[in-house]
Amino acid sequence: MTLLKRVKRLPEGFVWGAATAAYQVEGSTGKDGMGKTMWDDFLVSKGRFLPDPASDFYHRYPEDIRLAAEHGIKALRISISWARVFPNTDGDPNPVGVKYYHELFAECRKHGIEPYVTLHHLDSPIGMFSRGDWLNRANIDSFVNYAQFCFEEFTEVSQWFTINEPISLAFFQYVVAEFPPADLFNFSSSFQAMHNMALAHARVVKVFKEGGHQGRIGVIHALKPVYPIGDTPDNRHAAELWDAYLNRFLLDLTFFGKLTDRTSALIEEICGVQEASFSVEDGDYDEMQAAVGLNDYLGINYYQPQFVQAYAGENRSKYNATGEKGTTTLRMKGIAELVKNPDVPTTDWDWNIYPQGLYDILRQVDANYPAHPAIYITENGLGSKDALNAAGDFVDDDDRIDFIDQHLDALLKAREDGVDVRGYFVWSLQDQFSWSNGYNKRYGLFYIDFETQRRVIKKSALWSKEIASTID
Ligand code: BG6
Repeated sequence: MTLLKRVKRLPEGFVWGAATAAYQVEGSTGKDGMGKTMWDDFLVSKGRFLPDPASDFYHRYPEDIRLAAEHGIKALRISISWARVFPNTDGDPNPVGVKYYHELFAECRKHGIEPYVTLHHLDSPIGMFSRGDWLNRANIDSFVNYAQFCFEEFTEVSQWFTINEPISLAFFQYVVAEFPPADLFNFSSSFQAMHNMALAHARVVKVFKEGGHQGRIGVIHALKPVYPIGDTPDNRHAAELWDAYLNRFLLDLTFFGKLTDRTSALIEEICGVQEASFSVEDGDYDEMQAAVGLNDYLGINYYQPQFVQAYAGENRSKYNATGEKGTTTLRMKGIAELVKNPDVPTTDWDWNIYPQGLYDILRQVDANYPAHPAIYITENGLGSKDALNAAGDFVDDDDRIDFIDQHLDALLKAREDGVDVRGYFVWSLQDQFSWSNGYNKRYGLFYIDFETQRRVIKKSALWSKEIASTID
């Protein structure tokens, strides 16, 4: 019996993949010469959960990669932990860390899986973090050196991404205090970090191309279409402001190499009401402009849209990091307030389930950024409290199959309407450690019993195998 739903067939040559991130799967933090990341002490101080053992991918990657291959996965997003390769951020590399990644990439190749490798996935090394993380421009030099080392060392890799989700890092670090250093409503730092990451990306792309390295390189942006609730001029303006913060700031820097006049005006308005500012040095936009055409692809992580209305009161945030439905609040003075759309279902973490949003954001990127290269959906998936069946040998996650199937359907419609989308990576390959939520928010095609590290097949893995088999 077929498990296929709306989508019956994937296009010829379509890349079917799954995604992971080093700190969320490897475990073994601090082992074999690895340095600390920005997370280690922060998580201890919060006292809710720890990043070990995560999915113990550090030891169990052969099993996970075999399972991935057996279930149709042809491409795997993996990130390199900077702190495992350079324990002191700069200086000498750690040979054990370097060897681990060579072995990991070799295992992928052995199973016919193409590794798509991210250099920075929300996990700055502690040395970089303690001197200001992305706010300190000296760290851009360190990132360029680390990237250059990776390009020269890991010649078996030909698909690279520089930075995963600059917006998420900046927003969770400085606006809603979920990521270290846990600042609240510090829009100055959030814009500065995004600007500096865009510059870091531009420099690394240039180094990659000038070094004559083989393969492709790009950046990954998390994009969320923003819709006004209640079609009033104020609410439409609120949506435009929030869209400028969430999407346009970084897309403009990536694909125009500067902010357009309209984005600039909207960002200035946000800075005005939030008493924020950030600095741009002479030549920054020149460097960014020079990098626009050097991007070989764009990764888009899409989970959900945001519905907003105008808001003039004081800032207030409560992030739902527990899965207690209906506990999210985000109100930003003079910008917007998040509101629930009664017609759109939500997860236990209050994330909107809205496949149309993927279609809309793809069309928006395509229409507004003519210089964009080929697009890959580098993350999309459903976080839920999956449970094992009574026998403990299967997880029936039909809701996840529905979620992925509907988003894939939206992606294919955007393709039919002319958007060049060439692949899709399910977040995530296996259940993983989640930055804000710990271990009860599961996304994997494979279930992990975090006590024993036993892997259990979910129905979505069987569906993945079937949908992958439709690609010529
Ligand atoms: C993306 C990140 O933002 O969303 C992942 O790239 C993350 O690292 C994923 O895990 C899901 O977010 P969360 O908070 O539900 O784990």
